[in-house]
Amino acid sequence: MELIDTHAHINVEHYSADRAAVIERALAADVRRIINIGYDLPSSQASVALAQQEPLVWAAAGIQPHYASSTTAADLATLRELLQQPKVVALGEIGLDYYHDRAPHDQQEALFRQQIELARELSLPVIIHSRDAHTDTVRILRDAAQDYPGVMHSFSGDWEYAQACLDVGFYLSFSGPLTFKKAVELHEVAKRAPLERILIETDSPYLTPHPYRGKRNEPAHVRLVAEALAALRGVDLATIAAATTANAERLFTRLKGNSP
Ligand code: NI
Repeated sequence: MELIDTHAHINVEHYSADRAAVIERALAADVRRIINIGYDLPSSQASVALAQQEPLVWAAAGIQPHYASSTTAADLATLRELLQQPKVVALGEIGLDYYHDRAPHDQQEALFRQQIELARELSLPVIIHSRDAHTDTVRILRDAAQDYPGVMHSFSGDWEYAQACLDVGFYLSFSGPLTFKKAVELHEVAKRAPLERILIETDSPYLTPHPYRGKRNEPAHVRLVAEALAALRGVDLATIAAATTANAERLFTRLKGNSP
């Protein structure tokens, strides 16, 4: 059995004392690949560096909407170079964040669209972060990324929003909150979404699943997300592992190479 954690941030300082042990535990939990995601230029650079050093790790690079006001043309040129490095499989995470709301919405949209364009130029799939911005996210994706390969990372929302994302042609990626008893709306989405459009992730160090809630998250826990998905859909873990791994390989076409 092989699991892929399609969204983690293990380059961050939370893991500086025990990163090797974290990767060992992921392997022991059947996690054979981890996609480490950048959210600004320094984290994207760290992501690519980590991927080149760790056989288990692949990278994505991108600039989150928080930095929409300060991102320059030179930054986008640097990003473009990073995206062409070995083991980079996607552009992300990018999108809209009206919850933290650190930049004006028109600037968030502009940076979002610029990076979708860049992804198209480089033929890379996109990883979308959307918080409290569902309507605008769907509007922009319909306009700029209809049928373009992409994933709604750490999907949260109701079935109607899920359908809108599926209609754009995107995958839905589930994370720790799927294991929470009270996440009824999310459970409904996880039951109804087509199996061939589902991915799993941890978003480590955030969104820790039950029963480790409140502690630091890590890629090994993607197995708990897969187990929750299996229980909700009434299938076995091996079925979920095989499907989500095949889905990740279909979306992230550069995610290949032998598992360690
Ligand atoms: Ni993330």
